[in-house]
Amino acid sequence: MNARFTYIANWKSYFTYCEAVTWAEQHAAALHTRNHNAEIVLCPDFLAIPALRAIAPNIKLGAQNCSPFDKGPYTGQVSASSLKDAGVTHCIVGHHECRTLLHESSTVIAKKIVQLAQHGITPILCVSDPYEIAQHEFAQALRACRSICIAYEPIAAIGSGNAASVEAITDKLALIKKIIDEYAPDIHARLLYGGSVTSDNAQEFKRIPNLDGFLIGRASTDFQELKKIVH
Ligand code: PGA
Repeated sequence: MNARFTYIANWKSYFTYCEAVTWAEQHAAALHTRNHNAEIVLCPDFLAIPALRAIAPNIKLGAQNCSPFDKGPYTGQVSASSLKDAGVTHCIVGHHECRTLLHESSTVIAKKIVQLAQHGITPILCVSDPYEIAQHEFAQALRACRSICIAYEPIAAIGSGNAASVEAITDKLALIKKIIDEYAPDIHARLLYGGSVTSDNAQEFKRIPNLDGFLIGRASTDFQELKKIVH
């Protein structure tokens, strides 16, 4: 386990703008001051990013998605350039919910990774199948990045309350590491696990070899729960 464990709070669409602002006003200071040994990245929806930056300038912010294109005639898209301007350091891409509900393809996800890399934002690539990283377009996109987070998120574990077993996570992370070493050996990759992480399973999971952090959905919206996961 790395010294500085990473906690990515994926707030999905759980909060409205006002609710996200209220959460940050109430808890962001405590989150920052108590956790110098942890890297915490809050990922609210796009709208709340500038407000959270103003309320909690010391907390890292991530986006939950981005455009596969740079600035230009792309209605409804938020470019990596714009995220960079807003102070975003990380961005989730390839989340299962986007792949299924928005039909995002590997080609589109790979383009997003390249956009983020070009703007110095760390992509958080979600995969349920480690072999996906070996696909030509992903391997190529990865080689464009200096650093990346790869989140192993088994589909059945997302939002279900049924996290993967320690054994399964251990095996999949070892496989991801092997694939990265083969296809993108120069990249600095941090490996995360996501899918029903809670305060009940987090401490046990933290002992898993190669695990550098968590991608936390619902549990990250509850400050007390997040605090317990971090400690
Ligand atoms: P969950 O979500 O923690 O609510 O299962 C994780 C994720 O989808 O990133």
